[in-house]
Amino acid sequence: MTTVEARTINPDVEAIRHHYEVPNELYRLILGPTMMYSGGYWEDGEDLVAVLDEAQERKLDAFTDLARAAHTDTVLDIGCGWGTMLNRLTTVHGVKKAVGVTLSRTQADFVDALNNPAIEARVESWEDHRLADGQAPYDAAFCINALEHFVLSSLTPKERTQRYRVFFKQVHSLLKPGARFVLHTMTVENPPLRRQLLDDLKFLQREEFEGCHIPRLPELAAGLDGLFEVTEIRNEPESFARACRAWLQLLAARRDEAVTMTDETTVARFERYLDIFAYTLEDHIFNNFRVTLTRRA
Ligand SMILES: C[S@@+](CC[C@H](N)C(=O)[O-])C[C@H]1O[C@@H](n2cnc3c(N)ncnc32)[C@H](O)[C@@H]1O
Repeated sequence: MTTVEARTINPDVEAIRHHYEVPNELYRLILGPTMMYSGGYWEDGEDLVAVLDEAQERKLDAFTDLARAAHTDTVLDIGCGWGTMLNRLTTVHGVKKAVGVTLSRTQADFVDALNNPAIEARVESWEDHRLADGQAPYDAAFCINALEHFVLSSLTPKERTQRYRVFFKQVHSLLKPGARFVLHTMTVENPPLRRQLLDDLKFLQREEFEGCHIPRLPELAAGLDGLFEVTEIRNEPESFARACRAWLQLLAARRDEAVTMTDETTVARFERYLDIFAYTLEDHIFNNFRVTLTRRA
């Protein structure tokens, strides 16, 4: 008799936690008070560190407008980090209830400690999130630089496209017809064959974000076809590159404290991967697409 072992289809939860469950205070030192771990909207020439918090808030407000989320009943944030979007939706934009999902228990604890009864962060994967009995579908959804963690890199191209399809079907099932879903995601182009770059990409995929696949745009297009209408799409690599450069400056300014909070190896890991992201985005090897989608009926 042949036994067929179930194949792993998702990146390892512990590998994701390895990145996100370093102490919240280290993230606070690197990311600043807004605790956004994604691209921001700077004007050309603005000081990256001085304007970091404002640049993140501008991004959150622009996304809220794109999703038509203000003054709605319920909004979902998939891969919600430390809950900054959830908090802003409910305290600034009049959303009644904002729910986030994350794999990180330290992030969920951080969100709880914000003591905002209108927000909730659940430690669960996007795939396991369900509407409660009698709960109406969400009015809007976001996924901000989290999709990069959702699909296992060792799958075949066909399997990866199927997994993106499962993701978009899941979001479709959670939203009202006509609702908007705003996605910010890195995608990757074919890298030029440069030794250092290939080593750096290997480091990202094997050590820092083990098993995570940075999508290719055609994989996403195939995944959402027929489920969502593409309302707007634009490539904003500078939004994420500038954030990485700002975080590197903040880390450099308080490096000794960062080492005391964790250890030399952890700090060196952050320095290396943030620099890789910054230069690959600046060189347009990685993109950072903002995609506004409208749920088809
Ligand atoms: C780079 S952070 C972005 C956080 C936040 N959206 C922001 O912009 O600050 C990626 C987030 O995705 C979450 N994540 C990774 N895999 C996930 C999964 N399978 N289901 C839900 N969240 C996941 C992580 O826990 C983390 O909160």
